[in-house]
Amino acid sequence: MNKVLVSLLLTLGITGFAHAAGNAEAGQGKVVMCGACHAADGNSAAPNFPKLAGQGERYLLKQLKDIKSGARPIVEMTGLLDNLSDQDMADIAAFYASQQMSVGAADPKLVEAGQALFRGGKLDEGMPACIGCHAPDGSGLAAAGFPKLAGQHATYVAKQLTDFREGNRTNDGESMIMRAIAAKLSNKDIEALSSYIQGLH
Ligand code: HEC
Ligand code: HEC
Repeated sequence: MNKVLVSLLLTLGITGFAHAAGNAEAGQGKVVMCGACHAADGNSAAPNFPKLAGQGERYLLKQLKDIKSGARPIVEMTGLLDNLSDQDMADIAAFYASQQMSVGAADPKLVEAGQALFRGGKLDEGMPACIGCHAPDGSGLAAAGFPKLAGQHATYVAKQLTDFREGNRTNDGESMIMRAIAAKLSNKDIEALSSYIQGLH
């Protein structure tokens, strides 16, 4: 696990932790049009729109750049970021990161299966546990750009894991870490993990 983590950190070029400093206050004034889907504070109501509140700043900024460049295609957001500068996106990332993600609930019937995968992975198949990068409480590792998962909508999480598995989301870098992990997940695994993640806090 440690080896995976170290090589991932190296591929992502995380040595200096340098990034454009975002201004949360300025960011608040730049997210008006985002609220229709993600809500004013980033705690979206619809389960297919990801919560952005409390998400790591570095991860958010990377996603915004990937969405804008087309590396992560999102039909619903087509054109929305075209007129935003790098500084605008840094400010927006800082704003959402400064908010608090709301908590959700897990389906009690899926907790055991979800927790076993989240904490233990599938070692016999070489799939590492999620906690190695996303932390046991699902809070992620903001400085490294490992996203927070705890409290995220299960519907959204399930779609991401399926997209990584089917090759419809490919912006996880050259290490292809999430694509490699999702390749080992069955639909049932994804259902259990997503429910468990929604209830984590
Ligand atoms: C019409 C609805 C809509 C609007 C408006 C919208 N988004 Fe999104 N956004 C989405 C959807 C849907 C996704 C997830 C798509 C998927 O399933 O991968 C998304 C994903 C994201 C993500 C990635 C989250 C993650 O956890 O990886 C970020 C960041 C984001 N949006 C920021 C913004 C910002 C900033 C704005 C305003 C400039 C905005 N969005 C406006 C629908 C919208
Ligand atoms: C070796 C580190 C590592 C491990 C282990 C790992 N992840 Fe990830 N995960 C990442 C990174 C890095 C990203 C962000 C990729 C990007 O920049 O788009 C990510 C992204 C995600 C996302 C997308 C989040 C969002 O908001 O769109 C989900 C969902 C996810 N991981 C779930 C899991 C689950 C479930 C497991 C265990 C089965 C797991 N991850 C194991 C590193 C890891």
